[in-house]
Amino acid sequence: MADIEQLARDARADLEAATTVADLEAAKIKHLGKSGPLVLLLRNIKDLPPEQRGPVGKGGNIARKELEAFAADKGAQLADAELDVRLRREVVDVSLPPRAMPQGTLHVLTQTRRLLEDIFLGMGYQVIDAPEVESEWYGFTALNTPVGHPARNPSDTFYIEGRDQGAGANDDALILRTQTSTAQLRTMQKSTPPLYVVHPGRVYRRDDIDATHSDMFHQMEALAIHEGLTLADLKGTIEQFLATLFGGRLEVRLRTHFFPFTEPSVEADVQCFSCRGTGDPLPGDEDSERCRVCRGEGWIEIMGAGMVDPNVLGMVEGYDPDKVTGFAFGIGIDRVAMLRHDFPDLRLLFQNDLRFVRQFPGRP
Ligand code: PHE
Repeated sequence: MADIEQLARDARADLEAATTVADLEAAKIKHLGKSGPLVLLLRNIKDLPPEQRGPVGKGGNIARKELEAFAADKGAQLADAELDVRLRREVVDVSLPPRAMPQGTLHVLTQTRRLLEDIFLGMGYQVIDAPEVESEWYGFTALNTPVGHPARNPSDTFYIEGRDQGAGANDDALILRTQTSTAQLRTMQKSTPPLYVVHPGRVYRRDDIDATHSDMFHQMEALAIHEGLTLADLKGTIEQFLATLFGGRLEVRLRTHFFPFTEPSVEADVQCFSCRGTGDPLPGDEDSERCRVCRGEGWIEIMGAGMVDPNVLGMVEGYDPDKVTGFAFGIGIDRVAMLRHDFPDLRLLFQNDLRFVRQFPGRP
């Protein structure tokens, strides 16, 4: 019996000494577990002299129950206390301002495209979309560039499918479009005049890549078709557009040029927005003898343009070349971005070097 009391006292002392749930668990296993002394004593009760078996069994069981009840109580208290500590430590302060999420910026090309779209929306134009992978028909034939025309030379674009090696022309072949003018016929087929649309997008050309050339770049096509449109309307529209873009009225000069799908065709130059046409360097720029933007020319070539060729109008039902006329022009979006932000190399636009991209913090 003394044995049981001693075992119970030892067990109780260890259980009481425990200050954590883990300590308590260890003490429980040591004293009350399957191979603990009390359990062993009870299990081996049959080896005791018969007269001791009753009292030891009874005393042992009482002691065991008491100790277990004590351990359970204490365990609950310790667990509560530990939970308290954890709740206090892991408290979430919802009143703290959130950590700032890194915010991206729009690419300078996207910003430029949207600016151009905005200007034309303000002039009553609609923004439309058209495929980049285009058939040779929309790419060439529909643009008054029939089979055998030098501009159809297969070497001047990328073929996706169906390149005709022999004749060098196949209306169903799929190409990467070389210009956004390929949207002209698609747009005309979808609606009748009056039509005022702009179409921004990527174009592809087999070209050497240098500071001002890339085999992929961006254009924005404008197409207007209405009764009575003349070259004067084309020039006025270009002037209005450029005045909004560069923030002030600038002279526009039209030079004759050739495009298969416009007649007459022109290239439009705008008076240099930096030197205002003088060709002189900016005041204080002693390192340069001429204007850096126009290289002393006084003019900047800005777009190809022209009056829509009657042959093109005649391709689509509902467009009577005797009734309606139209004009079209195509602007290089990349070039506008370079001019507006004054950076010297087109390739910067496509390298996604963050040191460059971050200089144009346009928000979505
Ligand atoms: N598509 C022509 C080019 O890429 C530009 C252009 C557009 C010319 C519309 C006339 C009319 O050079």
